Amino acid sequence: MSGSYSRRSFIGGALVAGGAAGVAGGKPLREESPIANDVVPFHGEHQSGITKPPLVPQQQGIFAAYDVTAENRAELTDLFRTLTERARFLTSGGPANPAAHSSGSGLLGTTLVPDGLTVTVGIGASLFDHRFGLAGRRPTELVPMKAFAHDELDPAQCHGDVLLQLCANHDDALVNALIDIHARTRGLMRQRWRIDGFRSPQRPSGTPRDLLGFHDDVANHFLTDVKGRIDKFLWVHPPSPEPAWTTGGTYQVIRTVRFDLDEWDRVPVTRQEKIIGRHKTTGIPLGGGTNENSPVVYDRNGEVMPFNCHVRLANPQTVESRFSAPNPYVRADVPPVHIWRRSYQYMRAPDVNGRMDAGHAFCCFQRKLSTYIDMQQRLENEMLVPFITPTGGGYFFALPGVTDKHDYYAYKLLT
Ligand code: HEM
Repeated sequence: MSGSYSRRSFIGGALVAGGAAGVAGGKPLREESPIANDVVPFHGEHQSGITKPPLVPQQQGIFAAYDVTAENRAELTDLFRTLTERARFLTSGGPANPAAHSSGSGLLGTTLVPDGLTVTVGIGASLFDHRFGLAGRRPTELVPMKAFAHDELDPAQCHGDVLLQLCANHDDALVNALIDIHARTRGLMRQRWRIDGFRSPQRPSGTPRDLLGFHDDVANHFLTDVKGRIDKFLWVHPPSPEPAWTTGGTYQVIRTVRFDLDEWDRVPVTRQEKIIGRHKTTGIPLGGGTNENSPVVYDRNGEVMPFNCHVRLANPQTVESRFSAPNPYVRADVPPVHIWRRSYQYMRAPDVNGRMDAGHAFCCFQRKLSTYIDMQQRLENEMLVPFITPTGGGYFFALPGVTDKHDYYAYKLLT
């Protein structure tokens, strides 16, 4: 693993630092926790909520999809300008000014703390319909998400013209940002669906665990530990068949995947490990290793890591891996591919039968949408299928970053 991708948790580190609370005159000061002052820089070639914070994504996340109600191109431009202005302010923080309504809801007090907030804006295929004259500028692969083999999609929980992904260290910062954005964009867009998610802290160490109890996102480092790989697999840039305005952006997939946690609980841990392909407590690949970051080695006959376990189907490694055998579940020789996963866990109100509605707000970014689609089609054969039900989500194009104070989201698309 490269030095640039250390597993040290900067959130954990900040919390330790925050433990030394100030004391004045024998009375502890109620100071803002240091992580509340985390600023993730807003301006840049890429939107900062995709790969930053670089080590551990923020613990709280909201995915909110919107139908645009702006009536023409000028109003749509207003929408993106307003989103930019609010995101710039909310992510950097500063003195609140209630008289000018610049403080958001007031939930965060008199000084708005950035709290590690990132605002990531994506757009869906429907924005390129007849309404705004953008049909000729659609990213080439951007289409509405179609159902895969085991999906039970609820149309009300799918698609959208715009996707906002808000992430922060605490829930109140997210809620404040959402209230602020809604107040300022009233009449221009309307919320269509939303998932509120969380990520667990390191328990006890390593990558945070998902609701199945496994370390999740470990293999993300495959994308960062070889120079140039992140450009190859994550960001759109020339030469490419994509319209020029997309440079610096990336395709975003969000899928709401409900888990049957009651059934999962009945499965012995050794079987669960075969289904995923890693050890549950340590995250070490079943093929061996010393820690969760050890290279994944596939056995030739699929006895140690079944051919249809999750990681072996997601990443068959038929070209790169010296130890890989032909996988009967994979249609053809699959070149090494990588996606950048940045998922959250969710739990919401029970269904009409009183059954828990909890699972994965699966989120990934990649330069080519087909990378994800191929991977998802392979996973239609995975051993995890009986325990998961995809119910919503969509495909979006995460816009290029806002480069400076004169720029705004989608500027190059709209001008
Ligand atoms: C929705 C339920 C899902 C769960 C609970 C889940 C869980 C996991 C876990 C525990 C790992 C092993 C640790 C790691 O490398 O992060 C993993 C790896 C991976 N997953 Fe998923 N995942 C889910 C869905 C998906 C989907 C929908 C995709 C893509 C279509 C995907 C792609 C991957 C990839 C590429 C890896 C890394 C494989 C490797 O190279 O070792 N996962 N996942």
